[in-house]
Amino acid sequence: MPIKYHEISKTFHLYNNEISYIFKILKNNQLGHLYYAKAIRDKDNYDYLLETLSRGMSVCTFENDSSFSLDHIKQEYPIYGSGDMKHPTLDITLENGSHIVNFIYKEHEIIKGKPQLENLPTTYIEDNNEATTLKITLYDEVIETYLILSYTIYENRNVITRNTYIKNTGNQKITINKIMSMSLDLPDKDYEMIELRGAWARERHVKSRKLEHGIQSIYSLRGCSSNAFNPFIALKREHCDEYQGEVLGFSLVYSGNFLAQVEVDTYDVSRVSMGIHPHCFKWELDTNESFQTPEVIMVYNDKGLNAMSQTYHKLYQERLCKGKYRDLERPILINNWEATYFNFDEDKIVNIGKKAKELGIELFVLDDGWFGHRNDDHRGLGDWYPNLDKIPSGISGLSQKINDLGMKFGIWVELEMVNKDSDLYRKHPEYTLETPNRHSSNGRNQYVLDFSNDEVVQCIYNMISKVIKESHIDYIKWDMNRCMSEVYSSCHSSQGKVIHEYILGVYHLYDMLTTQFPNILFESCASGGARFDPGMLYYAPQCWTSDNTDAVERLKIQYGTSFVYPLFSMGSHVSASPNHQVRRNTPLETRANVAYFGTFGYELDVTKLSIEEQDIIKQQVEFMKEYRHLIQFGTFYRLKSPFEGNETIWMVVSKDKTQALVGYYRTLQEINVGYRRVNLLGLNKDYQYHVSLLNQDFYGDELMNVGLITSDSSSSDHNDEGDFVSRIYVLKAN
Ligand code: DGJ
Repeated sequence: MPIKYHEISKTFHLYNNEISYIFKILKNNQLGHLYYAKAIRDKDNYDYLLETLSRGMSVCTFENDSSFSLDHIKQEYPIYGSGDMKHPTLDITLENGSHIVNFIYKEHEIIKGKPQLENLPTTYIEDNNEATTLKITLYDEVIETYLILSYTIYENRNVITRNTYIKNTGNQKITINKIMSMSLDLPDKDYEMIELRGAWARERHVKSRKLEHGIQSIYSLRGCSSNAFNPFIALKREHCDEYQGEVLGFSLVYSGNFLAQVEVDTYDVSRVSMGIHPHCFKWELDTNESFQTPEVIMVYNDKGLNAMSQTYHKLYQERLCKGKYRDLERPILINNWEATYFNFDEDKIVNIGKKAKELGIELFVLDDGWFGHRNDDHRGLGDWYPNLDKIPSGISGLSQKINDLGMKFGIWVELEMVNKDSDLYRKHPEYTLETPNRHSSNGRNQYVLDFSNDEVVQCIYNMISKVIKESHIDYIKWDMNRCMSEVYSSCHSSQGKVIHEYILGVYHLYDMLTTQFPNILFESCASGGARFDPGMLYYAPQCWTSDNTDAVERLKIQYGTSFVYPLFSMGSHVSASPNHQVRRNTPLETRANVAYFGTFGYELDVTKLSIEEQDIIKQQVEFMKEYRHLIQFGTFYRLKSPFEGNETIWMVVSKDKTQALVGYYRTLQEINVGYRRVNLLGLNKDYQYHVSLLNQDFYGDELMNVGLITSDSSSSDHNDEGDFVSRIYVLKAN
């Protein structure tokens, strides 16, 4: 069992071959944190890790013991008010207005396996031997309330998951103002915090900053996990890079408002906490009511950022995503959005489908505009039945026509939204989140439906499941194109519940649809990647990474996304040139060479291609069919960052290491530069690999230690390649 309890020292040790996490019951019966890093041997006592310095001016718990102060003892789940002076993990208001609570150890249990959380997405196991869970029950006798901290350690992964549950069994009503999923007190502040920051069309750019005293945080108050910050941070040591060094990752399995923060105190202790954002959150608990937080996935590694990302990739691929597509290669799709926008009819769609089929494409996705009176973005959202003026055969007839071509068929939906110009709004204006007597702001002319109200969720479910049942639908792209504002729900007395209940409503609808239609592949989307998070991945194993389809911009977006999320989750398409977002012209080869490293598809009008372009696309589709298993289920390595220079290089290696692809991208043409090579990773040092393009054989140790030569004649004095050049090297063991 990788979780031990040492009775005499009252110490818990969670460990596997790679990591150790140690904490203990303190002499005031609260929990004190001792260690979280590389595995150390199990002993029955680590009390030397407790800081017992006497600090004269600190608030002390016991008289005559100035060494026991919560001001400097590192804690597991700290609460403000009895000596700890940092931001708390839990804040509760009691009926008398007090915020003082005291949760002390009551009991614990160590369970084989990993319990699931009710109504929330979580990582899971398939066999009880994969993980062990520790549940510690703390109790506050004044308010008769239980707090259960859960820790799961996976046997063969550098992963610990955490969540918190609270239950009021007393007679007074308590109000939770803040309840974080986890807290971790680290002994020093010598870390850089990495975050994935961005905006629409510029999602998940990698940024880092040195920890300083005070608070550094990322968050969302947008009602979705957002494109401004992703619910992930990593703390890395100064010398940690992609290939080596210590890094701690924290990823929240949640799709709504979140807070991830590190507070460095005056003793250089760094307190990491993560969970639902407390702003506008207020959850009242009456007798016997409870609250469950989402889960945080903590990864520790001393082998660098690639190793951290690979741990997340494998866990999210194997034990977060659900459904049959978890283990399946993804169909190559064509999406009509950038080909037609709203301007299409049935013939146009069928013609694109016919041409796509000729090119070898497998799935047709009909994007926005097929329902209600949706001819532009001012109307129609909420009316989930086909627009028969545009599609006389309806979705059932059109899906049949596309199936008859030999292709799968999918549709776009935006189930959480409504336009005022819609039948749904005219019938049920009360279904939107709008504050009485206040102006309502719009986003893209649309309003947010009140998914905290189950009646609304059921109404949408009934409409969309009818369309699905009547048609042949293999795929659904579930979009969400605005942030929340003026949030108020007429069905809740306590408005502090609404934003979290909304997300639970979204999860509930996903749950109903994925359960009722298990063969449908879901792709989540929120104006591109504004809700690319582990909560969504649980239901939808792929996500539209960004509305920005420019190959050069995508290098940064996909590189940053790969810090946490596996390639098989990244929606990536080849689009037209000049690109619709940045107006840049890039070669068709480069657009595909970037898009291969994801789910792959096309988003342009294939009926307007030249014969030469059609031939290139046929070859690209063939290439992806041959290598998608390697790409989507192999091990991904970042070799050269687009944030640091003109070249980006990444690679993916098959599980048995007999095959690899190296993606090389040079943004601008250079002239007369040095001779360059890049050290590859993850190969078998003893295998001899044939390298395409160079048409030579090299041993794995040569490619990893000497490097792959990437120089070409264009970077000497005869410039014959130009800007935005890229290549895919295929490596095959002989
Ligand atoms: C935003 C998405 O990200 C796009 O791909 C497209 O589906 C549009 N919405 C349609 O309105």
